[in-house]
Amino acid sequence: MRVFVADHPLITHKLTVLRDKTTAQPTFRALTEELVTLLAYEATREVAIEEITFETPVCETQGVQLARPLPLVVPILRAGLGMLEGMVKLLPTAEVGFLGMVRDETTFQPVTYAERLPDDLSGRQCFVLDPMLATGGSLAAAIQFLFDRGADNITAVCILAAPEGLEALEKATEGRNVTIVLGAVDERLNEQGYIVPGLGDAGDRLYGTI
Ligand code: URA
Repeated sequence: MRVFVADHPLITHKLTVLRDKTTAQPTFRALTEELVTLLAYEATREVAIEEITFETPVCETQGVQLARPLPLVVPILRAGLGMLEGMVKLLPTAEVGFLGMVRDETTFQPVTYAERLPDDLSGRQCFVLDPMLATGGSLAAAIQFLFDRGADNITAVCILAAPEGLEALEKATEGRNVTIVLGAVDERLNEQGYIVPGLGDAGDRLYGTI
């Protein structure tokens, strides 16, 4: 597993405002989108392209376009949805699939409760969106879901991660082609499973506490 932690003053600034508990929901949503667009720039560094020949007003020349099959962007519901617009700003022709994961409160295992994805993901670059890599359980399950559909090239874009979650994900994806692009790695997880210092519950801060 490859891990890239973004290192840019604008990202650190936007993260600071996201972390601040006094930041209101509309600002939180707007900043999440902006931050993800910056992370998307890093995450798409190796997006597959193919050469094309076309004409400028002056002459014929060569350029590139996204290779087919087009990339697939997969927000993990609910909080990953808040990252979608920021991602597709840089990948407007990407297809979008959806994956809903919830933790079973008796087994504590992540369970898929909703899925809208192509049956065959072989040869597809998949970009998974999940803002908080906390224990790594739901992201590992989502990545496994995509592997089971034939994906072999997965990049996860996360806003924050805990070291514990990164370690768990590393074990769960051993030997596979997985890249994680992050805004920051925080100190730790607390007893309630929150990232510390973190930003609280990303889904609640994006969409309210329902
Ligand atoms: N999910 C969140 O939204 N926040 C955390 O800190 C951990 C998991």
